[in-house]
Amino acid sequence: MTATLVRSGLEGVVAAETRISGVDGQAGELVIAGFPVEELAEYATFEEVAYLLWKGELPDAQQKETFTRALAAHRALPEIALEALRAAASSEMPAMDALRMAADTLSLEREREEPSGFDGAALTLTASMPLLVAAYWRLCNGQEPLASRPDLGHVANYLYLLTGEEPTPERTRALETYLNTVVDHGLNASTFAARVIIATQSDLVSAVVGALGALKGPLHGGAPGPALDMVFEIGTAERAEPYLREKLERGERLMGFGHRIYKVRDPRADVLAKAAERLFQTDADQALYALAQHVEQTALRLLEEYKPGRHLKTNVEFYTALLLHGLDLPTELFTPTFAIGRVAGWIAHCFEQQRLDRIIRPQSVYVGEHHRQWVPVQAR
Ligand code: ACO
Repeated sequence: MTATLVRSGLEGVVAAETRISGVDGQAGELVIAGFPVEELAEYATFEEVAYLLWKGELPDAQQKETFTRALAAHRALPEIALEALRAAASSEMPAMDALRMAADTLSLEREREEPSGFDGAALTLTASMPLLVAAYWRLCNGQEPLASRPDLGHVANYLYLLTGEEPTPERTRALETYLNTVVDHGLNASTFAARVIIATQSDLVSAVVGALGALKGPLHGGAPGPALDMVFEIGTAERAEPYLREKLERGERLMGFGHRIYKVRDPRADVLAKAAERLFQTDADQALYALAQHVEQTALRLLEEYKPGRHLKTNVEFYTALLLHGLDLPTELFTPTFAIGRVAGWIAHCFEQQRLDRIIRPQSVYVGEHHRQWVPVQAR
């Protein structure tokens, strides 16, 4: 038999052409539908970015207004979604599990007529994510979910639903920058999962639920919580080196560092570090920011020492953790908040894959035994 080259983890395999985002891991560049991430993330509303990804162009003023209204009109959850969240809260389930379970119930909204001309399921999924996350968090804390505020944009409404307070423009801008930064990132694991599902001519809700399952894991979207925990556990600058050294000696990974594609600093880390710094000047704990920077520098030095030549650099999760913490989001909500941004990217990829209309079906090499013979159970 001829030997077949197996790319473990599909590393280096190109499985799609896309116009949604492009990642250059050597140069440390991320392009989102033609815009460098630095150019787009700090200025656009989340609605503008979702429109851009789904339609390929930024909306003009009229289109922006129509789309923003259409998205806001989908801010209603089916009763069963709230029941699922209540059940999840009483069993103290991780927020990503609760989100995945409740997102499944959005199929009930699928048949609704959509007067705006945009895809109804896409609007429902995108509009509902913040509602589900905020409702779950309030239920976990013995509070009833709040009704959305139609006068607030997508991002401000999420912050309002969490706290019951209208957020300042600075806080809204900081979260908007984060959500825009993580909206899409090439053929990452959750996006690939979504494309595999939709490519079978399945539906958008199924694709997004599958993607949520993929995003949950710590090797993908589940790292920012642990990254922040690490900074808190370190506590003071002089503890950084012994703490990180011990972790590396034990063969553990430092959360918030390393990336399959980026071999230089993740460009999203810079956008988020800037946004965090801006937020921290007005609102939050500057000492924590300084400690995080020290931890980052120490980690990079030690990773070079322990893993020479591996080019392990800061990834998006490290500054995500700081920014979201600065917005008073609890660590349990970091990954669900990532999903609130990424859902627009998943859907854009689904649209692209639907246009391609080709099932994704790679191959495997069988490495098991051959010619085994049936043995009756009494004889085993
Ligand atoms: N800390 C310490 N060592 C690391 C780290 C890390 N964060 N990341 C990779 N390494 C080491 C590995 O142990 C391995 O060493 P070895 O060859 O001596 O065994 C080498 O670097 C290569 O690692 P791989 O696992 O092959 O790298 P891969 O591309 O598969 O992993 C990943 C990428 C999963 C992100 C990895 O760097 C990691 O686990 N990082 C920590 C978790 C994290 O921050 N995840 C968020 C990623 S960003 C995102 O998904 C949005």
